[in-house]
This record gives sequence, C-alpha cells and structure tokens, in this order.
Amino acid sequence: MKKKTVVERENLSMASLYWKRPLVITHGKGAFLYAADGKEYIDCTANYGVAITGHCHPRVVEAIKAQSERLLSCHGTYYNETRSELLAKLMSIAPRGIDRAFLSNSGTESVEFALKLARKSTGKTGIIAMMGAFHGKTMGALSATWNKKYRIPFEPLVPGFKHVPFNNIERVEGAIDEDTAAVITEPIQGESGINVPSDDFLPALRELCDDRGVLLIIDEVQTGFGRTGKMFACEHWGVKPDILCLAKAIASGLPMGVTMAREEVMASLGVGEHSSTFGGGPVACAAAGATIDVLLEERLPDRAAELGELFMGRLKELEEKYRIVREARGLGLMIGVELRFDILNILLGALERGVLFLDAGRNIMRFLPPLVIGEPQLERVISVLDEVLEEEERARIRG
Ligand SMILES: Cc1ncc(COP(=O)(O)O)c(C=O)c1O
Repeated sequence: MKKKTVVERENLSMASLYWKRPLVITHGKGAFLYAADGKEYIDCTANYGVAITGHCHPRVVEAIKAQSERLLSCHGTYYNETRSELLAKLMSIAPRGIDRAFLSNSGTESVEFALKLARKSTGKTGIIAMMGAFHGKTMGALSATWNKKYRIPFEPLVPGFKHVPFNNIERVEGAIDEDTAAVITEPIQGESGINVPSDDFLPALRELCDDRGVLLIIDEVQTGFGRTGKMFACEHWGVKPDILCLAKAIASGLPMGVTMAREEVMASLGVGEHSSTFGGGPVACAAAGATIDVLLEERLPDRAAELGELFMGRLKELEEKYRIVREARGLGLMIGVELRFDILNILLGALERGVLFLDAGRNIMRFLPPLVIGEPQLERVISVLDEVLEEEERARIRG
C-alpha cells in the first residue's frame, strides 16, 4: 500500500481545529521557514509570536542540547540549578515589585493561575475583562476571552466575569463592585486586531485599581519579551501589574508559561493549591534562560522598536496608496493592517510569493516576525504586499 503523505496523515488523524495552510514545514533558521517543496518563506508569524529569537537560534539550541543530555524532567518538588538560574533571570527583567513566579506550560495556563491567585488573595470572585480580549481557551481563561464564537458553545463558563469596552476607564470604573477581585487586560490587544490603547488608559487603570483595592492582571503572553520595543509592553506606560502573565516567546518555542506576582499576592496560595507536573521542567527552563540572554545581549527589544518604526513607515505608504487598506497600527514588531475586506486572498497571495503572516479576525493582517528579522526581509515583505494589494484592489474596486 502506498505510504500516506504528511498532509494525508495529519488530515486523517488530527482533530480538525486549525485552519491549515497548504505548507509542510521542515525546518527554520532565523526569520525563515523552509517547506518540503524546497521553498523558503519569510516568517512574519514567528509561529504565533513564539520564535522571538528566530528559528533555532544557536544559543537556544545549544542550551537545550546541553540540558537534555543531563536531565529531561524535574518536578517542582525538587530544586534544580537550571530552574533557579532562569528564575533569577526572570526577576532581573520583571517590572519592579514583581518577585515571585509560578512556572507552567502555556499562555492559557498562566492566565488560569492568575485568576485563581486573584480570587484567593482578595477573597473575592469578580473579574473584569475587556471586550475584544483574548486570554486563552481553557474554561477560566475562556471566561475572560471576549469572542462569542469561542465562548458560547462551552457555556456555562466560570461565573463572575464581566466584559467592558477596552480603553474606556469610565466603563471599568462603573463595573467594579464590592466583589471585584481583579481587572485583567492585554496591554495591546493582539488576537482582536492589534488595538493599542490611548496613552492614559493603562496608567488610569493602575490608579483606579489602587483606589478601589482591586488587583491588576496584565496579560503579556503576546506582547512580552521585546515584541513591542520594550521588554514588556506595560513599560511603555510605566505601569506595574500586580500579576503578570507570560508565555509564547519565553522559551523561543519550547512550551512554557509563567505567572509572576508581587510577593504578598503570591503568598496567599499554599502548598498544593495549584501545581503542574511539567511546569518548570529543566529543558524549557534552559531554553528560556538562553532566550533571555539573547534578548539582552542582542538588544532585541531595541531592535524591535527600530525595525518596527521602519516597517510601520513603509506600511503607512501602502495605507496611503491603497483604498482597500483602512489602517496600519501597532507598536514595535507587533503590527496589524486592517483592510476594508476579507484578507484571505492577500494571505494566500503572499504565501505563494514566500511571505507568511497571521490573521486577526477576517479583515486584519497581523505581523509578529522574529525580532532578528533583517531590513532586506522586511523590504521584501513590503514589495510582496504591494503586489498582492494591487491585485486585490484591482479586483475589488477597479473591477
Ligand atoms: C494575550 C494572550 N493570552 C493568552 C493566550 C493563550 O496562550 P496559549 O495559546 O499558549 O494557551 C494567547 C494566545 O494567543 C494570547 O495572545
């Protein structure tokens, strides 16, 4: 019998939960991904923001190799040198005042833990989240996520959650009551289209939470680790969270989530009240430690700021040129381009020409390239976009 192809095997056996691109990826290097057909792709997805140091950064690969020859697993009940080193590095880059961390395996887990922590440390149950928010898809995190498409099939969700408009401090204030434990927000909304708040929103939110004795949970799962031009996006506005959720880029591709918090908040949870078999495993910790080293030594947050400005400038030219482009927006190398139409043709047209980017909703292109991407690659992305936008505009408007 003929051996099945990669595509046939995945289509036959994998739960059909992803909109699959017609690509079999075999390997990656820096800002490039390579497919089984031999083609090279400029990766402006970083696999949903994960490959922040580029694919297979030699420092990260070396750290994983060295650790995997010594020890693959080490439960949190034991001490471990690699984990202790990672914790020290995390504390050295964390916003001041954040001095404890719980290590898990994904973004949604880091949010689950944040929600439990907020309830336990305040003795209250209410959580205020933002319209448009994305915090993950497990039951607690899903209760804070906004998109009804993700939520409704799984109701009833966790009680006690309210959603208010993002970037509207009066509506947050109006939603706080005597049972509010925390407000949770992304500093810049990713999944719902790269929504950057006005400059006063996060500082006002911090002040409001302090005044009303409510915890502020900032979800930097997508924005963290240099993506927006600062190590953490909340630094753009000088805002310190009580609880900080991290994942995605932290280990350059190995699964890891971290929930960080102020000591007195974290102290409310006792032995056994939360745990994770894999959380803080030594291989992921080694990858995360190397990722932080690379971010600092190669000054990747600064690089994201510089390249982001350059890329945004070129995207703004396309915004001027094409009527189908509504707006290019973002911070650092977290960029969205909103069109007046569905982006599907643009996404597939770019893919055919060797450029990968993400969607955020039906009409927004999302760019989250590895921070090591070069100027020539970004120029190539612009020229491919110019071509596909030209074709689409001709088809849609000029007929
Ligand atoms: C802001 C934010 N929080 C949480 C998550 C969930 O992360 P994960 O997919 O690792 O569970 C995501 C994923 O896109 C995210 O962008």
